Amino acid sequence: MNTQRLGTSEQDILFAGKLLSQGEVVAFPTETVYGLGAVATDEVAVRKVFTAKGRPSDNPLIVTVADKAMVQQFAVENDMSQKLMAAFWPGSLTIILPMRAQAFSMTVTGGLNTVAFRLPDNEVARAVIRAAKAPIVGPSANTSGKPSPTTAQHVWHDMAGKIAAIVDDGPTTVGVESTVIDVSGNVPTILRPGAITQEQLVAVLAQPVHDATTTESVASDVTPKAPGMKYRHYAPDKHVVMFDELDAVDLAQKLQDNDVVMAQDRILQAMAIKSQQAWSLGDSLESATEQLFSGLRFYDDQPKVGTIYVQKMIPVGLGKAYNNRLAKAAGNQEFSI
Ligand code: TXA
Ligand code: MG
Repeated sequence: MNTQRLGTSEQDILFAGKLLSQGEVVAFPTETVYGLGAVATDEVAVRKVFTAKGRPSDNPLIVTVADKAMVQQFAVENDMSQKLMAAFWPGSLTIILPMRAQAFSMTVTGGLNTVAFRLPDNEVARAVIRAAKAPIVGPSANTSGKPSPTTAQHVWHDMAGKIAAIVDDGPTTVGVESTVIDVSGNVPTILRPGAITQEQLVAVLAQPVHDATTTESVASDVTPKAPGMKYRHYAPDKHVVMFDELDAVDLAQKLQDNDVVMAQDRILQAMAIKSQQAWSLGDSLESATEQLFSGLRFYDDQPKVGTIYVQKMIPVGLGKAYNNRLAKAAGNQEFSI
């Protein structure tokens, strides 16, 4: 298949919508990471998404909508979901609700009776959905198991020849996937940490919010609440090791010539790392989160690179989402002196 590169002109967006309504798969930008779109009610099109990603069929897809009103037809809303939508949509929060009977096929939900919705904070994403005249599934547009794509080039790397088109809206701003919260039961439960933090969710819901990502360890032989969490995720082929900034100078002494370091500017300076061995994570938690997957993907494609050492962040707020993705990429391996 000849994958087309599209921009964000009105004409290109209408064309993307037309491809989607014809049952094709089109990658689209969001503020978190790029997504792989197909009309959510078109089972044949949704199957193509699983094929393009190489995704296990028991891992459900999220459904991306252009406005809040699109949810009603497919799911049963409640007081919690309404509060969350009012506070955080459009934005980086995916909300899981009970599905209306047969709203989506088992292919979309992985056989669950709930469905995950997201309204992205990206005008192009919403325009593409409006042009398709239907909600679209939106898993991250990477090959299953690889770091999520934060640029159209990353999508091209994984998906060229496998999908109809890619809508290029430049680099994403957040850099990690949305927070996933399940409000289909009585206890609101975070299934994946993201830019919307537990503290923010508690403030809006005015009740305790359970964080399943820190209290449950998920092994491959149990059925986790977020099926996606049992798979090895975000992982480059290269050896990735995380390190604490307190150990930075010790790490600098042990570094081999072909090793590389991803860290904040002040850490790279303290370590006196040569520029060709360094990937700057900028000087804020936001810039580090935005750069994490880009750096991992860049070094993963460099044949001569040995180990990729990546700085951990303070585990507060967005730092929890950053550390969660980094720990998965590193298979939990940490540098110690
Ligand atoms: O930021 C994002 O959410 C991106 C952008 C493209 O929108 N999308 C994304 O989708 O990360 P995906 O499919 O890569 O991750 C969705 C996660 C998976 O871990 C999946 O298992 C979980 O949400 N999920 C989807 N539906 C679910 C459901 N009904 N119950 C529990 N978990 C669900
Ligand atoms: Mg994904």
